[in-house]
Amino acid sequence: MKTVFSSFRLRDVSTPQLTQNRGRQTKVALKVTMAVTGLIFVCFVLFHMYGNLKLFLGQEEFDTYAKFLQEDLLVPILPHTGGVWLLRLVLGVALILHVVAALVTWKRGRAARGPVQYKVKKGVKKQNTYGGTATMRYGGIFILLFVVFHLCQFTIVKFDASAGNAVEGSPYSLVVASFQVWWVYLIYLLAMIFLALHVNHGVFSALATLGLERTGREKGFRVLALICALALLIGFMLPPTAILFGLIP
Ligand code: HEM
Repeated sequence: MKTVFSSFRLRDVSTPQLTQNRGRQTKVALKVTMAVTGLIFVCFVLFHMYGNLKLFLGQEEFDTYAKFLQEDLLVPILPHTGGVWLLRLVLGVALILHVVAALVTWKRGRAARGPVQYKVKKGVKKQNTYGGTATMRYGGIFILLFVVFHLCQFTIVKFDASAGNAVEGSPYSLVVASFQVWWVYLIYLLAMIFLALHVNHGVFSALATLGLERTGREKGFRVLALICALALLIGFMLPPTAILFGLIP
């Protein structure tokens, strides 16, 4: 009898702890997933931004570069167009994992807070602020919508906003025609601001999550995140701005 009772008692005590441990492990797994996939995206956008600067080198240079990316990336290791499809696969899987991990974290956070939304007490630091949860969440949704628009515009439909029709041919001409339209420019400007905010917060969090944060390194990581964010904002917006003001014909 004694052993039966003690085993009951043991189970009663350990169950909430086990659940808590599992909850913590899930939280860590979600954070690591967001960190790794987020860093994959940051590498891609930095590379993409650098490539877009070739618009300043003229039509031939940019179109040759775009053709290389579409057809000859990683050739002869992979067959023609194999490189771009591998890139699409990696980015697609990373995007799905990043979004799912963010949604699950969001849902778990709401469940943990419960239905009652308490007012923030005076003097207590509010967490839902600049660079915080709200910016990451709603900025992330805006970036996602932007990517859909962007892919339709330059990859799937190849839509020339200035003429109002779809065109085949030179990627350079398509980009130049697109950014001569003010509202296309505005959409990109907003998206790049959100991207910069997302990256500024995301890069720092990702490095911290992956355990790279040590005493004394925090400031360096914040600076690195800020450099990535500013490089993306300025680098991505340079060609569209030059096009809008007629500096790239
Ligand atoms: C001012 C900013 C940007 C410009 C001017 C731009 C321009 C372009 C162009 C011209 C292409 C087609 C390239 C080709 O024909 O080979 C392209 C493709 C693409 N861009 Fe951007 N881009 C910008 C920002 C972004 C951002 C911020 C993201 C992601 C968050 C992004 C993601 C992509 C992706 C995933 C592709 C498709 C690659 C493929 O599957 O072929 N772009 N972009």
